[in-house]
Amino acid sequence: MYSEKVMDHFTNPRNVGEMPDADGVGTEGNPVCGDVMKIFIKVRDDRITDVKFQTFGCGAAIAVSSMVTEMAKGMTLDEAMKITKSSLADALDGLPPQKMHCSNLGADALHKAIEDYRKKQGK
Ligand code: FES
Repeated sequence: MYSEKVMDHFTNPRNVGEMPDADGVGTEGNPVCGDVMKIFIKVRDDRITDVKFQTFGCGAAIAVSSMVTEMAKGMTLDEAMKITKSSLADALDGLPPQKMHCSNLGADALHKAIEDYRKKQGK
């Protein structure tokens, strides 16, 4: 039911943890299941130099969090804003249809972290 990539990121998630000196933080909750994802970013010259996540959620949400941090690291803020739930699911070689809402969480939490950073910069 789950791709090898999903299982890999679920069992060995990348970039887990807190970032006390984050430049932007985004939290997104899923009202359907109650799962919550928090993304921290470090930004230099409009580029994401580091990303961390904390997720209280299902296996798919953890795999999505891990993948979104890998994808976003090194991207410009504008590029990272273009990450969508379907590009995330594609990067994981697909998610079961009933789990697509979990990938929404990843894209939204990242976008909120970028918005938080931009707000702090007065942009
Ligand atoms: Fe809640 Fe996956 S079931 S995020």
